[in-house]
Amino acid sequence: MDDKIVILTGAGISAESGLGTFRDENGLWTRYDLEEVATPEGFARNPDFVHDFYNARRANCAGAEPNAAHAALARLEREYPGEVVIVTQNVDDLHERAGAARVIHMHGALSGALCAACGHRWPAPPAMQTADTCPACAAMATRPDVVWFGEIPYHMDAIMGHLASCSRFAAIGTSGEVYPAAGFVQLATETGAHTVELNLEPSSVVSTFAETRYGPATKVVPGWVSDILAPV
Ligand code: APR
Repeated sequence: MDDKIVILTGAGISAESGLGTFRDENGLWTRYDLEEVATPEGFARNPDFVHDFYNARRANCAGAEPNAAHAALARLEREYPGEVVIVTQNVDDLHERAGAARVIHMHGALSGALCAACGHRWPAPPAMQTADTCPACAAMATRPDVVWFGEIPYHMDAIMGHLASCSRFAAIGTSGEVYPAAGFVQLATETGAHTVELNLEPSSVVSTFAETRYGPATKVVPGWVSDILAPV
């Protein structure tokens, strides 16, 4: 077991940056039908509507700033003597804009575009349109490079390898409602890692965590990072 910390983040870490969450009161899935905007079938039925949805989220993200929780994780990555790996379910770039260098986006990223015809990837423009063509194969098959329900999350082999060799696992700002991410705490526990949930309220998988700390991420995460970095 290496001296490695694996941190899983969810929408809750970006909530105080104004990006909202999915399942809280007024969350995205209370205002949109996820079948319509976060499935391949929904995209096939109405690509314009789905592009508009992600164009709005891309604009929100561009107008948002990283918060103290993102900054604290970037500090931990800089100052911790062992390895720190951030695995995020979020498609925003606030971890990177806070200075984190090792961020694995298991659900893809708003900053990426993907060609559904040839698999080419390129930096997404601020707004994507159905009529856009792929810069590599010219097919009119461009889509946001995000993972929709029913699709396979990205980088799972790497994530499994980190979970099998970590000494600490933390989940921050996630409801524990969506697998495979919600199962990571169990895998880390089986590795023998110390596990902690940092959230606004208990998640659906709270019973698996060895430690819990509740409160807004901008308060709880900096405190947790300071405790880890404190000289023993
Ligand atoms: N600080 C800390 N936690 C917060 C805050 C906050 N300020 N605000 C909300 N939370 C917590 C909520 O209590 C909730 O447990 O963040 C969690 C958000 O849960 P969800 O809205 O379900 O978001 P998430 O867990 O990231 O969803 C997982 O579902 O729809 C898919 O692909 C989407 O990546 C997303 C995945």
